[in-house]
Amino acid sequence: MEVKKADSTGIKSMYADVIEGLSKSRKELPSKYFYDERGSELFEEICNLEEYYITRTELEIMKENISDISEILGKKLMFIEYGSGSSEKIKIILDQVKGINVYVPIDISCRHLAKSAAQIASEYNHLEVIPVCADYSKPFEIPEPKSEIKHRIVYFPGSTIGNFHPQDARVFLEKIVKVAGENGGLLIGVDLKKNKTILDKAYNDARGVTAEFNLNQLMHINRELGSNFNLDKFKHKAFYNEEKGRVEMHLESLDDQRVKLNGKVFDFSRGERIWTESSYKYSLKEFEQLAQSAGFRVRKVWTDEKELFSVQYLECFL
Ligand code: AVJ
Repeated sequence: MEVKKADSTGIKSMYADVIEGLSKSRKELPSKYFYDERGSELFEEICNLEEYYITRTELEIMKENISDISEILGKKLMFIEYGSGSSEKIKIILDQVKGINVYVPIDISCRHLAKSAAQIASEYNHLEVIPVCADYSKPFEIPEPKSEIKHRIVYFPGSTIGNFHPQDARVFLEKIVKVAGENGGLLIGVDLKKNKTILDKAYNDARGVTAEFNLNQLMHINRELGSNFNLDKFKHKAFYNEEKGRVEMHLESLDDQRVKLNGKVFDFSRGERIWTESSYKYSLKEFEQLAQSAGFRVRKVWTDEKELFSVQYLECFL
């Protein structure tokens, strides 16, 4: 199967991003670089952890409400999935949302995408599958389908929206409004504010899978860019910052040390951290305000009994 490939997925973008992040006075790395092959595996393991309530709760909400979701989305749909790692969720949708004519999975990991898209295409004979390998946070083109389409629906599950700082989330949602266009919408998973203990546990699992996931980013960067991060000299740190409403993940330097990357050097003092991820949590009210500020109207919100997580359908108003 042919995979359309955007420029944003190459090594040059990664190099620029890493240099920029490590050059800041408060060092940081973009969380999208967690996801090399091993990182994607580790993330899948995280999704199955007892402590990590997000994936199973979202899945439960989807299963519970799929006929309602199907009805609201309508017919003659192009279903555009941002970050198509979540095979189980998409199968529920492709099985039960009858209006989907075209499925466009978008992912930064081209090989992973090619495999999963071919798999889906072989399982769903009548579905037009058009994979696009791109960094969905950068501009990319939506392919022209053969099938007739009335609505473009962007699907952004997993509460990945939480990885954006709220101002950036608004800009990102504005871009989605443009992609979905008139009569389009966004089906999105949004994690909700909750008790700090639950959140701290979800990002500090007992088996240390999240720690390995966090550290693996350094391995990914070493491999792709030839840097020499020593994984034994960094420690996973994650906590819910209540005041900011976000879980923060960091890698803390265990020593004074110097890391080399293509002729550049980055010095770390003992205790200094690289900020690797933010995961913002919203109240329903806060997310509604964010969505509205970007040009969406909240059409419907589904949650679980404990209101841990929400799945929301937003309509573009243009
Ligand atoms: C995929 C961004 C939703 O923020 O919970 C899991 C990634 N990081 N454990 C999240 C993640 C640490 C996850 N998202």
